[in-house]
Amino acid sequence: MQHADNLPQVTVIFGTRPEAIKLAPVIHRLQKEPRLVCRVCVTAQHRQMLDQVLEAFSLKPDTDLNLMQPGQTLGQLTARAIEALDGYLATEKPDLILVQGDTTTVFCAALAAFYHRIPIGHVEAGLRTGNLQSPWPEEANRVLTSRLTTLHFAPTETARQNLLQEGLPDRQIFMTGNTVIDALLWMRDRLAAKGNHAVLLNGLGINPDFARDYLNGLEKSDSAKGGRKLVLVTGHRRESFGAGFRNICQAIRALADARPDVGVIYPVHLNPNVQAPVNEFLGNHSRIQLISPVGYEQFVWLMSQSHFILSDSGGVQEEAPSLGKPVLVMRDTTERPEGVQAGTCRLVGTDPEKILKESMLLLGDAGEYARRSRLSNPYGDGRASSRIVWHCLQFLGLGSDHSAAAVPQQRAE
Ligand code: UD1
Ligand code: UDP
Repeated sequence: MQHADNLPQVTVIFGTRPEAIKLAPVIHRLQKEPRLVCRVCVTAQHRQMLDQVLEAFSLKPDTDLNLMQPGQTLGQLTARAIEALDGYLATEKPDLILVQGDTTTVFCAALAAFYHRIPIGHVEAGLRTGNLQSPWPEEANRVLTSRLTTLHFAPTETARQNLLQEGLPDRQIFMTGNTVIDALLWMRDRLAAKGNHAVLLNGLGINPDFARDYLNGLEKSDSAKGGRKLVLVTGHRRESFGAGFRNICQAIRALADARPDVGVIYPVHLNPNVQAPVNEFLGNHSRIQLISPVGYEQFVWLMSQSHFILSDSGGVQEEAPSLGKPVLVMRDTTERPEGVQAGTCRLVGTDPEKILKESMLLLGDAGEYARRSRLSNPYGDGRASSRIVWHCLQFLGLGSDHSAAAVPQQRAE
């Protein structure tokens, strides 16, 4: 249908921190496109962590459904999201919606759009572990969303092949690269242009002595830091709630106790199932800094400062190869095999002995560290958003003055 200015409307729908980071470059690109109207609708499945990203990328949603409730269950959030998105889509009637990834928001937006017969473009399509229990519930969200999707934007050749194996039509699958690399490179350039990084510490709650000892580029000269090393941690997976998180905390504490030269920064996810064990087990160690989730600019800066990263995050696994930072992935499976193949990422599960052993290897073996901290870009070249928008224009019958050669398919490396 025709909307404002008689132009087709593409509505980008998202709800959590990682979706916002990965869709920000797509939105920026869509907003420059004169042949369509771009609208942004957030479910706010996350509140504070979403708002941090909106601010970092100067995004202003047209509609904010403000759905987050403290300690929300999957069923409660799903019910609220379907109802709110149903009403939103009935009013807005976009010509195409774009969603990204594997959260509750993605599946609900896809289902609500399907009920309104609105075509769906799925960014970061085709990631699979083949195990519906891991990551849980994300693997199911991905599989279900793919069944409803019209345009599949696969980030890698592996993801494209996964979709083909499920019988999805080749002509609807486009290999674009992952938009997280567009976001990362944009933020890395912004950081490089910024002279004074000390200002990034403002409001983070990192102890000033710790910051001087473990972060470079501050007033203490880097050589005076005596080779101290920063380990950055994130963790939030539902399948690790309970024993898994207790094990992860035990490993981090053992690492800090065993290596006086190591300092840990852990921006703790706001999920109460994460906050409780992390604060209980790691809350009183002088070389472990537990802080609130940080803005994307600060997080990219902290990643670049780290020796290695301990994480169960999907996005971090994708960003780390482009920064040359080894990641010990505290999960048993990954839908992102490319980082493992590149040598940057290694699956270590949640067994404390394994996490400690693998951490000690990265700290103690310089050759091993050098091999695993080589730069590589298995997830993209920073042009995924342009490719996605180009394919959207084709789909909407708007032609394109970008030639196919100007916006080619991402090729397998
Ligand atoms: C969600 C996604 C997960 C994604 C992760 C990114 C689902 C099922 N899970 O997990 O795939 O990897 O986001 O971080 O979609 N909270 C706040 N403020 C915030 C964010 C969360 O207080 O800004 C707390 C609230 O108590 C909320 C709880 O965390 O109820 C859980 O949030 P939810 O989005 O349901 O799950 P996540 O574990 O964040
Ligand atoms: N991130 C951030 N601040 C933080 C921790 C992570 O901006 O305090 C970024 C990180 O760089 C990555 C994304 O958030 O791009 C990952 O989000 P999360 O781990 O919550 O979700 P996942 O990627 O596992 O779905």
